[in-house]
Amino acid sequence: MTAKPTPPPESMKTWSGRFNEPVSELVKRYTASVFFDCRMAAQDIQGSLAHARMLTRQKILSESDLAAIEHGMAQIADEIERGEFQWNLDDEDVHLNIEKRLTALVGDAGKRLHTGRSRNDQVATDIRLWLREAIDHILELIIVFQHSLLDMAEVHADLPMPGFTHLQVAQPVTFGHHLLAYYEMTRRDFERFTDCRRRMNYLPLGAAALAGTTYPIDRESVAAELGFDEICRNSLDAVSDRDFAIEFCAASALLMTHLSRLSEEIILWMSPRVGFIDLADRFCTGSSIMPQKKNPDVPELVRGKTGRINGHLIALLTLMKGQSLAYNKDNQEDKEPLFDTADTVTDTLRIYADMIGGIRVKPNNMRAALAQGHATATDLADYLVKKGLPFRDAHEAVALAVRAAEIRGLDLSRLNLDELRMALTQVPGAAERLAKDALTAISIEGSLCARTHPGGTAPDTVRAAIARARNELGEQKGT
Ligand code: ARG
Repeated sequence: MTAKPTPPPESMKTWSGRFNEPVSELVKRYTASVFFDCRMAAQDIQGSLAHARMLTRQKILSESDLAAIEHGMAQIADEIERGEFQWNLDDEDVHLNIEKRLTALVGDAGKRLHTGRSRNDQVATDIRLWLREAIDHILELIIVFQHSLLDMAEVHADLPMPGFTHLQVAQPVTFGHHLLAYYEMTRRDFERFTDCRRRMNYLPLGAAALAGTTYPIDRESVAAELGFDEICRNSLDAVSDRDFAIEFCAASALLMTHLSRLSEEIILWMSPRVGFIDLADRFCTGSSIMPQKKNPDVPELVRGKTGRINGHLIALLTLMKGQSLAYNKDNQEDKEPLFDTADTVTDTLRIYADMIGGIRVKPNNMRAALAQGHATATDLADYLVKKGLPFRDAHEAVALAVRAAEIRGLDLSRLNLDELRMALTQVPGAAERLAKDALTAISIEGSLCARTHPGGTAPDTVRAAIARARNELGEQKGT
């Protein structure tokens, strides 16, 4: 004789008919996601409405059920908006919370909504909708940040500063040129986020739990209503992969890495030992013990938060790597790293757009730093080569000139023609090749202005690069 199953107690979960005992409070809390996935409520409602409308078009759901669902969902959206919606741990996640409330409001129509659908394709759809909005916002913010970079670069297109390799003075560059390097980095970041959005914009709904559904659904019309470019082509893939979230975190980690490098430079530049810039007070804090301190907290935190974002990328890669097909509950763990990544990138870009404008440059300190490192030594070698001396000989001759300048306690660019000739006498053919124009070649301005090829640091070239960038941004905005 088989025992008859007793109906589950009232307190048990939506899916609990099959179970004999309720889960413990700890397990309930451990498995619930509603406290963080409630952020996707708007997307969940949007997806449900598109699903319900398709079911109605396909005659799977009646017109009156649809009207009830639409009415109930409008009320739920309103309750959420006003902060009156009661999120309930017993209902596990955002999807079940909303469905339960809908059923409480409109009865059986609410129970019919889940026809031909599973939480597996539902959640995969919701995250994509959520992330698509987040990416669109991030793309806008990258452009705002790039505009402030270009404005700053334009003001300082002529301003010489030392360019460094190994953190040693290497060759003169303009501050404008230096800033444009970050424009290029973020231009690629923009492309990465755009690519990620494009690959992500496929509709999972219709995959149901994993194998599709027996109802005569019309996935294309749902994709069109929700703004997806296409439908996911394989039901198992649709519900199980989170590669788009990983790609988003990878693009974010790279963007943050770029902003972290800029932060490191800002911190260095504003150190009193370097003194290239000052940062507006609103991005700094004082010390509780040292009254004289002004610390660059905001760029330091950008550098620090980059570690967190890199961690989220690794978390998601690790989350995915051991999962067999198709959906596994592991995937619920994708949301917190993803949300935090989007929040951090968004806040960082917003702060940065303002912070660039808060940089006050100290041109004299930049010039003074340039007058100390023999930054135009390569220019002197290039000069001699252009006059016919083989490069290796020129290199040797200039090394001697640098030594002579060091002995005199001067920068190479400060030697006069006689002193230069004297220094070069040991290398046959070098001294006699020097004419007055050598002094222009080894001056800071001469060095800068000679680098006019595309991608070079000559002020006019920098201005042309800025104009081109502005053009690009104009085009991007128009698309
Ligand atoms: N909260 C779940 C998640 O984020 C929704 C999907 C649940 N599906 C399931 N078969 N338990 O992934």
